[in-house]
Amino acid sequence: MDIVPHTRAPSSDADISAPISRSSTPQTSRSLLFDDIESEAPFYSSIQGDFVLVVGGLGYIGSHTSWELLKAGMNVIIIDNLSNSFKGVLDRLELLRSTHYRQQSDDVVPPVLHFYEADYRDRCAMRALLSKYNHQPGHLPGSPSSSSAIESAITGVIHFAAYKSVSESFQNPLAYYANNVGGMVDFCNLLGELNITTFVFSSSATVYGEFANKGGRLIEEYCDNRGCTGLTNPYGRTKWMCEAILDDLAVSDSRWSIIALRYFNPIGCDESGVLGEDPRDTPNNLMPVVVKVMTGELERLNVYGTDWNTADGTAIRDFIHVSDLARGHLAALTARNTLGQGFKKFNLGTGTGHSVQEIITSMERVSGKSIPVHKTGRREGDVAICIAEPSNSMRSLNWRTNKTLDDCCRDICRFLNLDVSAPQPPREESQKRGTISMGSRCARASGWSGPRSSSTLVCLEKSCGLFFSALFLFLLLLV
Ligand SMILES: NC(=O)c1ccc[n+]([C@@H]2O[C@H](COP(=O)([O-])OP(=O)(O)OC[C@H]3O[C@@H](n4cnc5c(N)ncnc54)[C@H](O)[C@@H]3O)[C@@H](O)[C@H]2O)c1
Repeated sequence: MDIVPHTRAPSSDADISAPISRSSTPQTSRSLLFDDIESEAPFYSSIQGDFVLVVGGLGYIGSHTSWELLKAGMNVIIIDNLSNSFKGVLDRLELLRSTHYRQQSDDVVPPVLHFYEADYRDRCAMRALLSKYNHQPGHLPGSPSSSSAIESAITGVIHFAAYKSVSESFQNPLAYYANNVGGMVDFCNLLGELNITTFVFSSSATVYGEFANKGGRLIEEYCDNRGCTGLTNPYGRTKWMCEAILDDLAVSDSRWSIIALRYFNPIGCDESGVLGEDPRDTPNNLMPVVVKVMTGELERLNVYGTDWNTADGTAIRDFIHVSDLARGHLAALTARNTLGQGFKKFNLGTGTGHSVQEIITSMERVSGKSIPVHKTGRREGDVAICIAEPSNSMRSLNWRTNKTLDDCCRDICRFLNLDVSAPQPPREESQKRGTISMGSRCARASGWSGPRSSSTLVCLEKSCGLFFSALFLFLLLLV
């Protein structure tokens, strides 16, 4: 897959706005999508170039990945039911996209971003929606000619849409199996019918289960199709099941090229401070809780276990900057050409661990704020150390991480609109790179000030509007 910016004829504004506006009433999305089929020819004729479909693309990792794809010049379609994200993320992506491409030379044509608010388990809606991107307008799967005759403008799919809370998966395992496993099976069935067979799957280090207790870095071969030792929770089991199913699928049908990426501990956010981690659910992983303490929403941070066999007694994890992780998905799509057909699995981690205490110290140093902690006992199922062996991904995906722990903390502070005490890039450099100072200014220009609830955002977006933020920025740049 080519990730060089497109230099084709520009698309009309209607390309971007039509799918977005059609998605604004989720309860009626099905009939609206069917309506779209009637007007399929005009929609189809407005589509130019290839698209990457990002399912769950408004969530934490999905939005960062969509941004990296757009930056690399790829057209993106996002499907999200907003079960754990907010529509304001779409506006932020659009702001980043337009700001970034305004700074490029005239012959670089900006990629387009389409958004559909829909549940990816809604087979009828998905069938109608994805068929719009067929190269043969009007050709629906199930019609007499075979699916291999169908060619789609969608050349790759990245699947993020899943529930991800370990504790919730104990309380409501069926919801987890239905969304994470059942949803993916039905979706892959449809993708196969439409001849869309390049698939990147969000997996997790949780598939290693109790292997983490063995010590040493975790290598991909510890967990494969035949099973894994000691999966510790239903969420982890959904991820392992999905991997096994995808492996079987690739064996059974040679059209498929599937890559499962096993994430370790993504933290941080885009360096612009415009995107971040902003879930609807109450987060229970470390960094979002640190953030809640910094913003005063929580009094203190619980540190579970200070007697592990580590230098400072706190547990060690492989924390990876979310932008490095996001770039791993581009690398996977690109490597599809060299890796070829079949199912492959790769760790996305740094290969270096940081302790919980190191995270706290880094955040305190960067933000200049103190983070009160409460030291408490170990949690059931926790392990002392969990670190990826990333050499396979580095070699086969031609990918490596380049952000530090301090980068993660500094970028989070920008997202929170906190003053960052650590040294900033010189002004000229940040202007050249475009996104660092700009993003924060964008945020301020739109009246956006740090950690937010959806209602605050909606209110701010209504009163200020992206158009004025963009205009303001543009004038600022001219000056
Ligand atoms: N964040 C982590 O620490 C982590 C670690 C390992 C693996 N993962 C996996 O990465 C993926 C993304 O994680 P994230 O942290 O961005 O989560 P997230 O909850 O922020 O994003 C998931 C997105 O998918 C959407 N979604 C969920 N079910 C859907 C459905 N049925 N139809 C349409 N949209 C749906 C949600 O609204 C959300 O926007 C998940 O599959 C998760 O299991 C995450």
